[in-house]
Amino acid sequence: MKFLAVVMVALVPLVFGGSLMEELALLNDTTIIRDLLNATGLDAVVDSGYYTLFAPSDAAFAALPDEAAKTILGNATILSAVLTFHATQGIFRSMDAANNMKLKSVLAGSDIRVNVYNDVADGSLFVTLNGAKVTKANIQATNGYLHVIDRVMLPPMGSMYDLVAASEVHTLLKALIDEQKLEDFFRTVTGTLFAPTDAAFQVLGEALAAKGITVKNSVAEREILMYHLLEQVVYSAGGHAGTYNTFDQGNQVTVSMVNSTVMINQALVVIGDLSATNGVLHVIDSVLVPEPWATALIVG
Ligand SMILES: *[C@@H]1O[C@H](CO)[C@@H](O)[C@H](O)[C@H]1NC(C)=O
Ligand SMILES: *[C@@H]1O[C@H](CO)[C@@H](O)[C@H](O)[C@H]1NC(C)=O
Ligand SMILES: *[C@@H]1O[C@H](CO)[C@@H](O)[C@H](O)[C@H]1NC(C)=O
Ligand SMILES: *[C@@H]1O[C@H](CO)[C@@H](O)[C@H](O)[C@H]1NC(C)=O
Repeated sequence: MKFLAVVMVALVPLVFGGSLMEELALLNDTTIIRDLLNATGLDAVVDSGYYTLFAPSDAAFAALPDEAAKTILGNATILSAVLTFHATQGIFRSMDAANNMKLKSVLAGSDIRVNVYNDVADGSLFVTLNGAKVTKANIQATNGYLHVIDRVMLPPMGSMYDLVAASEVHTLLKALIDEQKLEDFFRTVTGTLFAPTDAAFQVLGEALAAKGITVKNSVAEREILMYHLLEQVVYSAGGHAGTYNTFDQGNQVTVSMVNSTVMINQALVVIGDLSATNGVLHVIDSVLVPEPWATALIVG
């Protein structure tokens, strides 16, 4: 009898777990998402199906840049879309995660990119969803699974190429891609794009001119462009100091981190983690120059 009682107690939470919204209410660091789901009426939708819900913590909402918070919270249509983006139908647990797999979001036409990264500090693996790290995993509810994540996920606004083309400060990068006839490539390749601003290209142009170096040759331009693209999808949560292969014939870039700033070679990441349908884009403040141009710039 005593043995049976122990077994019964152990089983109670599994058998009598609450719904997704009930489980969410049991956590004390997810009050904002809970209130937003309730306020938009999406709480009833969540509990009317079988879903996996990715719940940004309260700290994640607090960390949203003011402008993004205003846009999302100030417009019911956008708010519903962003909230809906945080769910997928059916079961997804950390054990189901594979690097670069995509989950079909409940938000029509949008996918959530899963990445599995290695924590360089202790060798453990962790999961991100569009760059948001799972901080509490696999909370089982009667109608699905709940994971707490450390960022609010924003639905990607298009491919890497689309993000570059839509940006007002990347006209020179776009021109370079267009000139190389690589639009389709940047729409479909999977990876990480470091996107130098127009100001960065101007600085490089002046430096080259001062040294009397011309890079008006298609092969060199292509090499410089491809040097900005990593073979892996590296969100900042999964990034680490070290070298990464690029699409420029395996030439590597060096990532270093000083305090909270991230450098790619000599370039500073000024805006990180812009999700694209085919990877991630980080805006950098100077152009990455592979050899032999890098040395030519110094000694030429
Ligand atoms: C709720 O917050 C308290 C401290 O504020 C913490 O000790 C406790 O572990 C939290 N509970 C959950 C379920 O996270
Ligand atoms: C959800 O919103 C309704 C009003 O629409 C309110 O009556 C209810 O108390 C709210 N529930 C929670 C858990 O906040
Ligand atoms: C809310 O956003 C949608 C989609 O961007 C837009 O069509 C609509 O005009 C916006 N509504 C308001 C009140 O700004
Ligand atoms: C990093 O932070 C420490 C402590 O805040 C500071 O002393 C140091 O100068 C910083 N390093 C750089 C390169 O900014």
